[in-house]
Amino acid sequence: MANKLYITDTILRDAHQSQAATRMRLEEMLPACEKLDSIGYWSLECWGGATFDSCMRFLNEDPWERLRALRKAMPNTKLQMLLRGQNLLGYKHYADDVVDAFVKKSIQNGIDVVRVFDALNDTRNIAQAMKSIKKYGGVCEAAISYTESPVHSEEYFVNLALELEEMGADVICIKDMANLLLPYDAYSLVKKLKEKVRVPIHLHTHNTTGTGDMTNLMAVQAGVDIVDCALSPLANGTSQPSTEAMVATLKGTERDTGLDLNALSEAATHFRAVADRLKADGILDPKVLNVDTKTLLYQVPGGMLSNLLSQLKQANAEDKFYDVLAEIPNVRKDFGYPPLVTPTSQIVGTQAVLNVLSGERYKMITKESKGLLRGEYGRVPGEVNEDVRRKAIGNDKIITCRPADLLEPELEKYTAEAGDLAKCEEDVLSYALFPQVAGKFLAERNAAVEDENTVREIFVEDLT
Ligand code: CO
Repeated sequence: MANKLYITDTILRDAHQSQAATRMRLEEMLPACEKLDSIGYWSLECWGGATFDSCMRFLNEDPWERLRALRKAMPNTKLQMLLRGQNLLGYKHYADDVVDAFVKKSIQNGIDVVRVFDALNDTRNIAQAMKSIKKYGGVCEAAISYTESPVHSEEYFVNLALELEEMGADVICIKDMANLLLPYDAYSLVKKLKEKVRVPIHLHTHNTTGTGDMTNLMAVQAGVDIVDCALSPLANGTSQPSTEAMVATLKGTERDTGLDLNALSEAATHFRAVADRLKADGILDPKVLNVDTKTLLYQVPGGMLSNLLSQLKQANAEDKFYDVLAEIPNVRKDFGYPPLVTPTSQIVGTQAVLNVLSGERYKMITKESKGLLRGEYGRVPGEVNEDVRRKAIGNDKIITCRPADLLEPELEKYTAEAGDLAKCEEDVLSYALFPQVAGKFLAERNAAVEDENTVREIFVEDLT
């Protein structure tokens, strides 16, 4: 079995994030946990990404509580999360003490594997998180944000992987968030990585463009160690290729996963009902299942296409959709070819919309675009268009150091700001990441607990 393929199932995180706006509830996960825990996955991705925000914003759930409940329900399987480096699960850079505390609490509350990435592949932006993951005993899975551009050659990615290994990565992930990695390129890249890198290689792709299963299979042929799949009810389209299809494909081959299709089918039965609920509530639009080959032409992730469409709808300019799609590669080039993933996908997308709608390129420039050009997000992979940069920020000083080096420790400040709202360090961290959303959530939660205590006191008084 030395050569078996290991599988990470994303049913509890990326699958519903990609197909159903991250709306699966804890109560819809727990009944399946015993089954999931018995399957023998390499890991179950179940936390991080957009789940943290979604828990508090839409589901009235404490994300930390969710993590502890999942840990308790699945004692035998490694639990995995997705972390955006120095941004943690938020949208700005946090100081190192906040990053350290967040990683510590994630691991203490039940996370085993932390997949950490930076949108620009600026390794300085994930260095602190990696250090903390190792310090608190987690498995450090460092990810390469995969994209295509004149600067993103196979050699670039191999060198990046070697650097991440040097920094202490236990596993290297190829994070192909937009399903741009084509099957034969996957074969070639994985082959090179297996030659040069000692630690296991983990492939994460989607099936947005319809090549996901083929990409996974070619990576398997090239010796990839672990791939991400999702149980069939929330697989494919904008989500991951299906677990059952991969397991069946490899049955009896030298890469046999050893997983039991019957057990997978039982777990899938539960999630089929969950998917039906999400469809009935209008959260899961079957459109996400359509193969979308526009991504292959414009290199825009599937999720970004729907965001663009809704931005244009709001501006009554749906007819400009293809103009905007055509403008995206231009903006990306001007900005030094950032991979398109949160937050750069939003920055480039919004700027492209403005360039088209205002009728003149860079007539209006967003604060975020200026920040990216100023170096606030880190080092961009290629050369920036200097004319555009001057137009955006004039003669402002450009940040060339690690952006977080400019931040003083801030955990104390957040603790003070959260005040009575926070009952523990986890609450402070929730507040630090999403002050408004967490502030409201914590206030309501605390009030509910107080009501309960009052009821209990009255009840006890009556008895005595
Ligand atoms: Co993904």
